[in-house]
Order: sequence, then structure tokens, then C-alpha cells
Amino acid sequence: MKINYDELLAKAKEVSKNAYAPYSNFPVGACVLFENGNMYTGCNVENASYGLSLCAERNAISTAVAAGEKAKLVAIAIVAENMLDCPPCGACRQWIYEFSPDAELIFETKDGYCTTTIKELLPKGFVLNTKD
Ligand code: THU
Repeated sequence: MKINYDELLAKAKEVSKNAYAPYSNFPVGACVLFENGNMYTGCNVENASYGLSLCAERNAISTAVAAGEKAKLVAIAIVAENMLDCPPCGACRQWIYEFSPDAELIFETKDGYCTTTIKELLPKGFVLNTKD
């Protein structure tokens, strides 16, 4: 499918304004695109117990799941207010991989955007395969 990179980045940037990041002051927004064209956004939500903080990517994916989305995840754009080309943390890589090992990732650069794939960032993502 044709991906509108600028639109995904704009939506990620917009939702980053809602980030709850009083501890890190590092607002992040993510916009996830599915094969049927649906898009969902999420921002990071921190907690006084720092380790409980939720990343923007997982928030966006959770929002999609809660909305009943069943289509294949195609792409996710990630925008951090204070950093260009902000790659997802390890936990979020595994979350993205869960919903598509073919996902494309989109980041903001100085003069536009750059892309990579989840396979590139997480070459051997975990899949639950039992022996039988
Ligand atoms: N964070 C994200 O939301 N996504 C990322 O890809 C990297 C990190 C958040 C977690 C925490 O709220 C803040 O950024 C600083 O680590």
C-alpha cells in the first residue's frame, strides 16, 4: 500500500503534545497505520514509579487493539519533541514485531524523514513456538 509518511509523522507529532512526561521531559508521539488505512496514535505516559512508564508506541498499538483493529500493522511513525530519528526501545520493538514482523518504521530527520524496518532493528524477534 502507498504510505503517506508526512501524514503519519504529523499525527505522531500532534499526539506528542499530549504526552505526560513530567519526569523525563521527553515527550514522544507515535502513529500506527494498518493495511485497511486505519491509523491510531499514542503518547508516552510516565509514572512517579519510573519503571511503570508507558512508551508512545505501545500506547498507540494498545489503542488500536482496544478499538478492535484486526488488520495487519503496516507502519509506525515515531516523533520525539527533543530528538530526531528516535528509535523505539527494545520492549516496543518486540511489541511492533508481535503485530507485524514486516512493519516499516518512520522517523523524523532534519529535512524530512527516514525509514527502516522492524526486522532491521529486531532481527530475531521472539515468537511463541512450542515444541509439539
Ligand atoms: N519513550 C517512548 O515513548 N518511546 C521511545 O521510543 C523511547 C522512549 C519514552 C519513555 C519515557 O517516558 C521517555 O520517553 C524517556 O525515556
